[in-house]
Amino acid sequence: MNHFAMIIFGASGDLTKRKLIPALYTLYKEQRLTGNFSILGVSRTKYDDQSFQTYMWEEMQHFIKKELQDEHLMQEFVTHLHYLPMDPAKDEGYERLKEKLVTLTKTDQPDNLLYYLSTPPSLYGEIPKHLKAAKLNTKGSRIIVEKPFGYSLESAQALNAIYASAFKEQQVYRIDHFLGKETAQNILAFRFANGIFEPLWNRNYVNYVEVTAVENLGIENRGGYYDSSGALRDMVQNHLIQLVALTAMEPPLYFDENNFRNEVVKVYNSLKPLTKVDFDEHVVRGQYTVSGDKKGYREEKNIAPGSRTETYIAMRLNIDNWRWSGVPFYIRTGKQMPTKVTEIVVHFKETPHQMFTRTDGTHPRPNKLILRIQPNEGMVLNIGMKVPGAGFDVKEVSMNFTYDQLGGTPVMDAYARLIDDCIQGDPTLFTRSDAVEASWRFFDPILKYWNETLEAPLYGYPAGTWGPLESDKLMSDHAAEWTNPCKNLTNTDLYCEL
Ligand code: BG6
Repeated sequence: MNHFAMIIFGASGDLTKRKLIPALYTLYKEQRLTGNFSILGVSRTKYDDQSFQTYMWEEMQHFIKKELQDEHLMQEFVTHLHYLPMDPAKDEGYERLKEKLVTLTKTDQPDNLLYYLSTPPSLYGEIPKHLKAAKLNTKGSRIIVEKPFGYSLESAQALNAIYASAFKEQQVYRIDHFLGKETAQNILAFRFANGIFEPLWNRNYVNYVEVTAVENLGIENRGGYYDSSGALRDMVQNHLIQLVALTAMEPPLYFDENNFRNEVVKVYNSLKPLTKVDFDEHVVRGQYTVSGDKKGYREEKNIAPGSRTETYIAMRLNIDNWRWSGVPFYIRTGKQMPTKVTEIVVHFKETPHQMFTRTDGTHPRPNKLILRIQPNEGMVLNIGMKVPGAGFDVKEVSMNFTYDQLGGTPVMDAYARLIDDCIQGDPTLFTRSDAVEASWRFFDPILKYWNETLEAPLYGYPAGTWGPLESDKLMSDHAAEWTNPCKNLTNTDLYCEL
């Protein structure tokens, strides 16, 4: 690699120390980042090269996994870090940025230059304009933008227009770190590298699909951002819908940037638009309330009093195409749930005729397949088997595959994988402008409805539970229930409408 330089806007923020620097160190350790490279942190905090290196050195001790820490390598890596204090919202710093880049790279046209926008979303539209004005949008540059990309369809379209005026689409990398997860990519391998599941993967055999991404933490110290974002913008419009796309898409001809991303967009465009009735009947939003020693959302720092921001969403989606027509996709995400788990559960239809009755009078359950993205990454297939002995008692058993059975190679962090792809110039796993707009086109009406309809329900759920009881009703058409490792609280008095 010739001289590679990466400029991180928002370098004093959380994401840089928690994810970006550890990811870059991993690439360095794996010798994916070699030779003469510079990482330049930019933000308003007054560091210089030396104090930024010291700050990052300390943070690296916390945020790099112990088994990956190599003191000698970490010390070498830190010498590649540099810093420029500037306000990315103002023009004046960009000339200094240019000079610093020339000093670091010895050229004003570095052949591999990467901008990373890890700033508050309000700057996503500002920085590309300034880069363009300062002629820093060079041919060899690429720009990674964090989510949420826009707050609505309109603002996402406006952002796309700004980016298109400064960069070519191939230079814009809208990051969704879920797509960088090995196990999310493995959904594609599972579906398209094996001949036996794909014939079943459709409305003839699948009853319904669940997509869950829940966490057992609250919003921590991100109140300012979260209160203006909410679960729909933070998780659903990007991460969850990506998982739906991986599960529902048609096989791409090749795994490349056009073929793969075309299929993603087709799924988004096939989502059946929600009607007014669906907003209340097929969408459940919740907010965690105080429970035991756990704070309620409204007690968290930087949350507006009486906030109606949702920390939980469950929805029923329909994909109106030949393969999936009539098969509901139930998706949900939430903060302060009993556990952290991201998984897709495919429920297959029952056998056409029930030949066996269990000793308790019930029939064997239909098969289900769990694709577990995290933790305990792997796959579980539930099948009915005969219990040894007299009679014909059929019991549900699990065939388990865990990802670590694939052997030696440590699973690379999602950010490391995605930054590496960007350095190599491969945008396949990044969101294209049409995909971001297609996703917003579907979700935006829900946000508008909540905005305009004060009486739209927002359900409180005690922190540490599986969310509003109303989300169970979503599935009642299918006489189905969410796959939860444990049940919700039975004391329904603790649930209330907010
Ligand atoms: C981020 C969201 O994009 O994803 C967070 O902003 C969320 O609110 C996080 O906690 C979840 O990611 P992961 O990889 O920990 O499941």
